[in-house]
Amino acid sequence: MDKRFAGKVAIVTGGSRGIGEAIVRRLASEGARVYATYISNPERAKNIQDELTKDGQSVRFIQADVSNEQSVKELIDEVVKEVGRIDVLVNNAGITRDTLLMRMSETDWDDVLDTNLKGAFLTCKSVCRTMMSQRKGRIINIGSIVGINGNPGQANYCASKAGLIGLTKSLAKELSSRNILVNCIAPGFVETDMTDKLTEEQRAGFSTQIPLKRAAKSEEIASVVAFFVSDDSSYITGQVLCVDGGLAM
Ligand SMILES: NC(=O)c1ccc[n+]([C@@H]2O[C@H](COP(=O)([O-])OP(=O)(O)OC[C@H]3O[C@@H](n4cnc5c(N)ncnc54)[C@H](O)[C@@H]3O)[C@@H](O)[C@H]2O)c1
Repeated sequence: MDKRFAGKVAIVTGGSRGIGEAIVRRLASEGARVYATYISNPERAKNIQDELTKDGQSVRFIQADVSNEQSVKELIDEVVKEVGRIDVLVNNAGITRDTLLMRMSETDWDDVLDTNLKGAFLTCKSVCRTMMSQRKGRIINIGSIVGINGNPGQANYCASKAGLIGLTKSLAKELSSRNILVNCIAPGFVETDMTDKLTEEQRAGFSTQIPLKRAAKSEEIASVVAFFVSDDSSYITGQVLCVDGGLAM
């Protein structure tokens, strides 16, 4: 693949599986130096790192919990200490704790908001100084179409993803004078471990509602991340791009 991201340093949160793993693979294959985070399953992270390193790509996994300020600070400090710059931040880490509101515990709410929304706030805040001094940067938040449309049984998740859109737009305005572009990708239904939890009935229900009649592959989200990292998107900021096979139309 063309090495159009050679020289760029990218951080991808939750990079050891699913959409995050596809993003890590895509950015690294195009020459970026990728720092990816994992929170559990260190063997899986190590296997991906070893495989891509053997292939001549630059990928390093660092354990970090995005919902913890100290952990995020240590991650960003380590990257800056090692390479002195950060060109791209992809906020991909996310969790679900689905249940109807009547049954939703405070912990269900807090866990999801802490990871999906506070996590992005913490990483954005931590990379900001470096990107501002470079007068250049790209931040890509992985939202969801349910942050736009809502979804029963996912009030916590939808609120976190809606919040991510507000964060994206506010930061796009705050950081525009420093040439830092901030955008949000809103996937629809993507085949990953996260959606494996759905029942066959729920999966079939989703698929019939999708105009393209199928779920997305993680690679189809990663290619849009690559677009937002590339010079092709140099005049786009503060946008939410649905990558959903037409589901949210
Ligand atoms: N799969 C879908 O259909 C779909 C649809 C819309 C949006 N999304 C979003 O895409 C992103 C990736 O989803 P996925 O389907 O690949 O899910 P996944 O569960 O396979 O991966 C999520 C990743 O986030 C990491 N993570 C969780 N909590 C973390 C924390 N506190 N700190 C650091 N990392 C943490 C996990 O370890 C994992 O690597 C999420 O933000 C999700 O909300 C997914």
